[in-house]
Amino acid sequence: MVRGTKNRSLIGTTIVLSFLFPSVTNFTPAHATTPILESTTDPESTSVVVNKQRPLDPIQYIPQDLVAPQFGSLNANPYGRKLRKAASTASYKLAKAMKSAGKGRLVIQSAYRSFAEQKVVHDRQVAKYGIEAGEALAARPGFSEHQTGWAMDVSARGQGCQIRVCFGQTKAGIWLANNAYRYGFIVRYPNNATAITGYQYEPWHLRYVGKALARAMFDAQVHTLEQYFDLPAAPNY
Ligand code: DAL
Ligand code: ZN
Repeated sequence: MVRGTKNRSLIGTTIVLSFLFPSVTNFTPAHATTPILESTTDPESTSVVVNKQRPLDPIQYIPQDLVAPQFGSLNANPYGRKLRKAASTASYKLAKAMKSAGKGRLVIQSAYRSFAEQKVVHDRQVAKYGIEAGEALAARPGFSEHQTGWAMDVSARGQGCQIRVCFGQTKAGIWLANNAYRYGFIVRYPNNATAITGYQYEPWHLRYVGKALARAMFDAQVHTLEQYFDLPAAPNY
């Protein structure tokens, strides 16, 4: 009875929102306990899903509110990397919480990358590791969520394993995997998910999806955006 009432009111809300915001992808994924009313295709959305099957649209997309997060004495952004504003604010909270928890000092190694910058990264990794291993690490330009301004690669001062799989075993890497969701971030390329995400385990690559979605994924123990939104796996281009 209660459930029926809830469903009816959700349907009503859905109809109203569809009318007001016709471009919003509006559906409730199987794993969601509350409806996610954010688009998975619009690069402006914190829920956008970018992978080898889903390039940015437009492919040369440039976010308009990039800022270099300021961390004061935490000094977590020594290279002046940029993120979209909401992700930047969240990254500061994340760095502060990590330090307070005694898990080390966060360093942003890379964050927003333009189409052109992504081409450099992709070309370098493919030259170094070959096409298969290189493309399991670096996206082609236009296919990287770094280009959305919602993603960052992090390390922790003095803990080694910088941009390496063993980062997942450091105290910072373990803490991030278990707590980043509280600040709206997910580890976007989990271990053993290459067949779904198209990328090897990247415990350093954090993607801002907002607190509601990050918590919903954590609670559901669904760790890829593809599975959460019931989207096709994207092992290849
Ligand atoms: N390292 C991730 C997959 C990227 O290049 O976007
Ligand atoms: Zn990354």
